[in-house]
Amino acid sequence: MKVSPSLLSANFANLTPDIEMINSSDADYLHIDVMDGVFVPNISFGFPVMDAVSKICEKPLDVHLMIVEPDKWISQVRDSGAWLMNVHYEACTHLNSTVARIHQAGMKAGVTLNPSTPVSLLEDIIQDVDLVLLMSVNPGFGGQPFIRNTIKKTGDLRRLIERSGSKALIEVDGGVNDKTGKELAEAGADILVAGSYIFGAPDPKERIRLLKNL
Ligand code: DX5
Ligand code: ZN
Repeated sequence: MKVSPSLLSANFANLTPDIEMINSSDADYLHIDVMDGVFVPNISFGFPVMDAVSKICEKPLDVHLMIVEPDKWISQVRDSGAWLMNVHYEACTHLNSTVARIHQAGMKAGVTLNPSTPVSLLEDIIQDVDLVLLMSVNPGFGGQPFIRNTIKKTGDLRRLIERSGSKALIEVDGGVNDKTGKELAEAGADILVAGSYIFGAPDPKERIRLLKNL
């Protein structure tokens, strides 16, 4: 299993020790949650913070944009150090073009689905994306309970990927811990995002290891 700890649960008053912890951990990526207060009912942080984080983070940045009109920010996201740019399906009118432009900018392209958006809507884009991020909470906040229907959705997505021959990875975000993570692993997830489960623990690296071994 690959693990992407979410910066949203780190100490915003002093990010350096948390990023150094990630650098020296078994984590595969660092998950960065950007919110605009419009697409989701919260605002997290923006590009200046991402710039600063990318300078000291040694793991690839997996950027989850919870914003309207993400197309406007493609070059900015790339310049802030993103390895992968995740855009919400619900925020993109012309998803095919957005995905192509993310690739042209030199990043991997991910598409994110809210809990109520069915996997079947990806049928005609799945070949073109590098990753699908399934939200297992309504986006906007860390520490929310896992929405159980995501297990079924993960299975649906795994079957869609196999049927289409796509190479897309399956990432799941929200309410992930060792128990929900195990079920997601069995259903076919490739990457687990976890915020409070990792940063809320006395030994975050141990939690990362636990998820990695699922
Ligand atoms: C929520 C964010 C998540 C969040 C997950 O909108 O997309 O990445 O940090 O937090 P936990 O793991 O605490 O549910
Ligand atoms: Zn996220």
